Amino acid sequence: MPKKPFHLAWFVSRGYGPKAWRMPWGGPNPEQWVKPDMLVDVARALERAGFDYVMIEDSSNIPYTYQNAHDTYLRLAVDSPKLDPAVLASFMIQATKNIGIITTLSTTEYPPYLLARLTNTLDHVSEGRAGWNLVTGSNDGGAQNYGLAGQFPHDQRYDMAEEFVDAVTQLWESWDADAMVIDQEREIFADPAKVHPIHYEGEYVRTRGPLAAPRSPQGRPVICQAGGSPRGRAFAAKWAETIIASAGTVEAMKSLREDIRARAIGYGRNPDSIKILFLISPLVDEFHDSAIARRDARVVDAKTHMDWHLASFSRLTGIDLSKYHLDEPLPELTSNGHRTVAKQFEGRTPRQLVSGGSSTPGVELVGTYQHVAAQMSEIIDEVGGDGFLLMQGDLTRRYVTEIADGLVPELQRLGVVRKKYEHKMLRDNLMAY
Ligand SMILES: Cc1cc2nc3c(=O)[nH]c(=O)nc-3n(C[C@H](O)[C@H](O)[C@H](O)COP(=O)(O)O)c2cc1C
Repeated sequence: MPKKPFHLAWFVSRGYGPKAWRMPWGGPNPEQWVKPDMLVDVARALERAGFDYVMIEDSSNIPYTYQNAHDTYLRLAVDSPKLDPAVLASFMIQATKNIGIITTLSTTEYPPYLLARLTNTLDHVSEGRAGWNLVTGSNDGGAQNYGLAGQFPHDQRYDMAEEFVDAVTQLWESWDADAMVIDQEREIFADPAKVHPIHYEGEYVRTRGPLAAPRSPQGRPVICQAGGSPRGRAFAAKWAETIIASAGTVEAMKSLREDIRARAIGYGRNPDSIKILFLISPLVDEFHDSAIARRDARVVDAKTHMDWHLASFSRLTGIDLSKYHLDEPLPELTSNGHRTVAKQFEGRTPRQLVSGGSSTPGVELVGTYQHVAAQMSEIIDEVGGDGFLLMQGDLTRRYVTEIADGLVPELQRLGVVRKKYEHKMLRDNLMAY
C-alpha cells in the first residue's frame, strides 16, 4: 500500500531581512536584501517542489536584550533589520500560483480590524492562498514600539489573543459568501441583507464591523500558530490549522503531536484538521562526507560568532545571556518571552547552546539526498504524520535549490510527498491528506 504523503513548508527565519550577507553563496550585492527578489525566487523554487506554504517570520523592533544595547544586533544583523512581511507576501503571491503564503502578524501590535482587512486582502489577491501566523509578540522592545511599557504577561497575551482571533474571524465572515452580487441590470453591487455588522464588545477588543471588503476565497485565511507552552498549546489546538513546532527528538515530536491532537478533540475538533509541522534544517550534498564537512564548518562558524547566537537567544527569551558565564550551566530561567525555548536552555552552558543547537534545529539531518530523504520518511512514520517546516537561517539560493531540486525529488521517489498540487487554495492542499 502506498504511504500517506506528508507536508512540507518553509520558514523564512529572520523575516524580510538580510540573510547570508557575510557568508559564501550569499549572492552578489548584499545591499539588495531590501528588494524582494531573493525571497521571491525562494517561493518560486518551493512551489516547483510542491511545498504547502512559505511562512514569513516577523518581529518589529531592533532588539536590545543582549548587553542592554542595540549594538550586537545592528553590527551583525542579528534578527534585524526587518522590512514589513505583508509587502513581501504580496510580491511572492504575484510570482506564484499554488503555494500558500503565510504572513506573521502580532495580536499585540495590530488592531484586529486592520489585521482582518490585511489578511482578507491577501487572500483575495492570492485567490485563496493566504495564511496568518498568529503570534502574540514576546519582546518588551517590540511592545514599547507600540506605546506599551513592556509585553503583557505571557498567559494574558493568549487571553487577549482569544478575543482578538474571535473578532477577526467574525469580521472575515461578516459578508455572506454570496453577498457580492454585481448585477448590472438590477444595479445591485452588494446585497445589504447579506452584510452584517458584528458589534464585538470584549474585554480587550471592540470593533463594529462589517469588514470593508467581501468575504475572501477561503473565507478564513489559514491560521498558523507556534505556541509551545501549555497555554500556547491550548490556544493552538483551539484555533490553528497548522502548528509549527520545534522539537529536539523524535519522541518529543510524537508526544507533542499526540498532546495537540488530544486537546483538539477536547475542543470538538477533528484532529486531522490540524497539520503539525516540525522545524528542521537538513544539510544535503552529493557525498556524505561533504555534508558532514559543511555541518562541521557551521559549528566552527557558530563558535567564532558566539555574540551573534547569544544575542539571538537573548532576544527570543527576553533574558540577557551575557550575564552568565560561558562555561557554567544556566540556572532555572523565567521568561516572559519564548518560554519553551528558555526551558530548553536550563542546565546547559551558553557555549553548549551555541555550538550544539544553532546550526541544526530539531533533529540532525545531514548526509546525501537519499540518506536524508529516507530519514525524514522514517521520522514521520514514527511520529504518526503531518510533516516538516524547513529553514536555514543563513539562507542562500544554493541552499533552497539543494532542497527543492535535490532533496524533494528523492522524497517524491519514495512516494512520501506530493508531485503536484491537488488544489488551488492553501487550506484544500493542507487538508488533502
Ligand atoms: C517555528 C517557529 C516560528 C515562530 N515564528 C515567530 C514569529 O515569526 N514571530 C514571533 O513573534 N514569534 C514566533 N514564534 C514564537 C511563537 O509564536 C511562540 O511565542 C513561541 O513558540 C513560544 O510559545 P509560548 O508563547 O506558548 O511559550 C515562532 C516559534 C516557532 C517554534
